[in-house]
Amino acid sequence: MLVSFFINDEYVSVDVRPDTRLLDFLRERGYKSVKCGCETTNCGLCTVWLDETPVLSCAVYMPRVNGRRVTTLEGLRSESAEFARCMMEEGAEQCGFCSPGLVMNVLALDRDHPDADDEMISRYLSGNLCRCTGYASQLRAVRRFLARDRATGIAAPASTEVTGVAPSADASANEGEVR
Ligand code: FES
Ligand code: FES
Repeated sequence: MLVSFFINDEYVSVDVRPDTRLLDFLRERGYKSVKCGCETTNCGLCTVWLDETPVLSCAVYMPRVNGRRVTTLEGLRSESAEFARCMMEEGAEQCGFCSPGLVMNVLALDRDHPDADDEMISRYLSGNLCRCTGYASQLRAVRRFLARDRATGIAAPASTEVTGVAPSADASANEGEVR
């Protein structure tokens, strides 16, 4: 079937099998920020935006993207730079495999809930699993990023506080929606 949509600023019109997953299509096309970390729609590593809503691309089949806009981390380089710095300074990027999916959700959180408290951050990011960090450093990075100076876009210097946040059991995603 013919599917036409935007990936970041690129307009594509492709003939694909309807059972092709968006995850596979994007990776084949070179959008390697989109990762596959599970077979159960639980890890969040494959998160992209569909019309600005975070979705699990492993749970989205190509017919659903027709006429819509898909955004990957490759299309958000400047928007993600300050959060990437916060993650690095807080030690929140270890193997880094989970980072692209996390960044996609943090940028959506920032857009929709810039005043999010720890509970909301934890709930919002519950679908992003990480095997390395224990989540405390990620929480510090998200806090700093949300609290940044909105005029300059610069976050305050790194803190030394250590506070944990754990993912909840229902990591979302039955319908492919991350939140
Ligand atoms: S690959 Fe794990 S949720 Fe999509
Ligand atoms: S930093 Fe390794 S899985 Fe998150």
